[in-house]
Amino acid sequence: MSLNKPHLKVHNVQDVQKENVQNMAILETLQILSELLWFFIKLIYYWAECLYLKICPLPPVSVEGEIVLITGTGHGIGRELAKIYSSKGATVVGWDINKQTNEETIKEINESGGRPKAYSFQCDITDRESVLATAKEVRARVGDVTILINNAGIMPCHPLDQHTPNEIETIIKVNLLAHFWLIEAFLPSMKRNNHGHIVSMSSMAGMIGFPNLVPYCASKYAVRGYMEALHEELRLGNPNNKIELTSICPYMVDTGLCKRPKIKFERLMALLSPKDVAEQILKAQTTRQKEITLPGYLASLTLFGRMLPNNASLDLKDTFEAFVESDL
Ligand SMILES: NC(=O)c1ccc[n+]([C@@H]2O[C@H](COP(=O)([O-])OP(=O)(O)OC[C@H]3O[C@@H](n4cnc5c(N)ncnc54)[C@H](O)[C@@H]3O)[C@@H](O)[C@H]2O)c1
Repeated sequence: MSLNKPHLKVHNVQDVQKENVQNMAILETLQILSELLWFFIKLIYYWAECLYLKICPLPPVSVEGEIVLITGTGHGIGRELAKIYSSKGATVVGWDINKQTNEETIKEINESGGRPKAYSFQCDITDRESVLATAKEVRARVGDVTILINNAGIMPCHPLDQHTPNEIETIIKVNLLAHFWLIEAFLPSMKRNNHGHIVSMSSMAGMIGFPNLVPYCASKYAVRGYMEALHEELRLGNPNNKIELTSICPYMVDTGLCKRPKIKFERLMALLSPKDVAEQILKAQTTRQKEITLPGYLASLTLFGRMLPNNASLDLKDTFEAFVESDL
């Protein structure tokens, strides 16, 4: 009899442990269920809120008095952004690798009168040291940048096996890595003041893969990826975070960047005007959108395409054929 006792004790301990594990599992299941229930209650509220905001949108915030740094202000969308932000009362700081065209943009703004003085800086944004040094100069001469628009980009366009290694590296450096150096330079003061907005140019080529644009698509998909991750880092890092992020995904814009566009329905899918795009970017930034496509309906069309069987999705792409032919 006495020999059985220790065995019984061990058996009891095992039973208790098993019971504890079962209790923990029940508690965890109850916790998941209650959190899911709470999530669905909030979901109804968020949907109602979305619907309400569609009917009565929030007024855009003013950019008057903000210091907006835009890269690539020497041409295209960047030039239009500089003009429109300045016309709304923001102090524009334009950066471009091309000193002459950049100075032309800033001169045009400064000569149009009644606007805050605009500033031009020559900077190759792929050079981290140069970005950090130019940022220091901006802080000393102009002040803390409160809106950063990562706009400058390049788009060599040909089949992957005809891209040189150097070209692939440069695409990634201009379209992606440079954003990190600019964020390194300007996010700290935004965090200190808990005020700021970062806008980054992705593209429809950051949502859909296109031929002749393999490295470009990689860079633009990556922009959306780091913007979403940074958004999470800021949101979870400070429950009171007031720094906003916006990614912009335009279809082809008439700036000359797309050298040989090939569009099946030219009237339905005409190239966008850089001025309209700049206006939509301002609107997205001042109404605190997280990500937009231009035109807006392309977001739903892309989502719809992703839900279809692969072959149907490819058919849809072929139906609305719009891409760029090789520039070689
Ligand atoms: N044009 C389009 O069809 C289109 C479509 C979707 C997205 N985008 C994106 O919009 C942005 C602007 O495009 P865009 O059409 O106005 O281009 P653009 O070629 O008209 O202007 C780009 C500007 O960036 C500058 N730049 C290039 N490399 C630089 C560097 N290393 N350092 C500093 N400045 C540099 C150029 O000098 C130029 O002034 C890009 O990021 C582009 O990828 C353009």
